[in-house]
Amino acid sequence: MVTLLVVASANKSKRPARKPARGDWPAVRLHVVSGKGGTGKTTVAGALALALASGGRRVLLMEVEGRQGIAQLFDTAPLPYEERLVAVAPDGGDVFALAVDTEAALLEYLEMFYNIRRAGTILRKVGAIDFATTIAPGLRDVLLTGKAIEAVKRGERSGEPTYDAIVLDAPPTGRITRFLNVTSEVGGLAKVGPIKSQSDSVMGVIASKRTAVHLVTLLEEMPVQETLDGIEELRKNNLPCGGVFVNMIRKPRLNPAEINQALAGTLDVANVRAGIKAASLPPRLSIDKVVDALLTEANEHAQRVALEQTERQRLGATDQPIYELPEMNGGIDLGALYALARLLRQQGAA
Ligand SMILES: Nc1ncnc2c1ncn2[C@@H]1O[C@H](COP(=O)(O)OP(=O)(O)OP(=O)(O)O)[C@@H](O)[C@H]1O
Ligand SMILES: [Mg+2]
Repeated sequence: MVTLLVVASANKSKRPARKPARGDWPAVRLHVVSGKGGTGKTTVAGALALALASGGRRVLLMEVEGRQGIAQLFDTAPLPYEERLVAVAPDGGDVFALAVDTEAALLEYLEMFYNIRRAGTILRKVGAIDFATTIAPGLRDVLLTGKAIEAVKRGERSGEPTYDAIVLDAPPTGRITRFLNVTSEVGGLAKVGPIKSQSDSVMGVIASKRTAVHLVTLLEEMPVQETLDGIEELRKNNLPCGGVFVNMIRKPRLNPAEINQALAGTLDVANVRAGIKAASLPPRLSIDKVVDALLTEANEHAQRVALEQTERQRLGATDQPIYELPEMNGGIDLGALYALARLLRQQGAA
């Protein structure tokens, strides 16, 4: 009895007491991060994982596209197909990462459901893996999403889930609905059997309140349009829409009154001229030319700011929560990533 008690408390001491959920997504266990290519999906997924982990939680950050984006982001060696600790969050908390390898996931799946031992060597020899994932991309997707759902459910039965949250660095908006809608994807492939029950169980989590599909965007016309289309498509397919993460926001360099003047071409020219004179430019530069160039630049800047305002309003009309992240001078290193995570927490994303 005494021994048992000691063991129990040792186990407990391994992990501090579970903290109550906080932020705008307390019921969400699977955070799917999508968005237009290049808008910062991987960066935002990493920052969100850190934000969710902070204060003593355990988070798994997953990537499925075989690009080793997470390893690069956290400045670590390429990730094997194995969960690895990549960062410690502020106030304690761990971020683990996993780069899912489709081929390994398929073999794992065949072994688990069809009891095929050492399926790997034989299947690889006959090229069956390429065959299976090429003719049935739906199968590939259900393997990848299945892996995320397995991580969500792990340990749940014992009342102690292994991870408090899973963050998935997912395919871009154009492919996200198909990627997540595994039931319809494998529908033509399997009506009964393990693939069917696997996809039903995956869908049970993905189409529920335990999942949120977040979209990353820039304040530019194309990415915003892709975000609006993405939200509509997710809603149409009954997939749970999450937040809109507006990334790489640049601060206006002029105040609102100056922006209006720059747009209307009524900036105080004498003032600009005086400023240039005070800067004592090399004498070979014509002050008139510099004034003209600066006024043109101010006008272009004001137009961009006005456009950004329009895009902000278009996003606001969707009624999804919006989080804003600045463009970090000098790009994204670990320090910048932690700073973005802090901003996400301050705004309630985690
Ligand atoms: N807030 C930011 N400030 C400055 N640079 C950023 C910011 N967010 C992302 N970046 C940079 O922008 C580039 C694209 O970011 P990232 O790789 O996260 O985008 P992605 O959407 O995952 O791209 P892909 O579609 O190729 O997967 C990277 O060089 C990244 O460091
Ligand atoms: Mg990426």
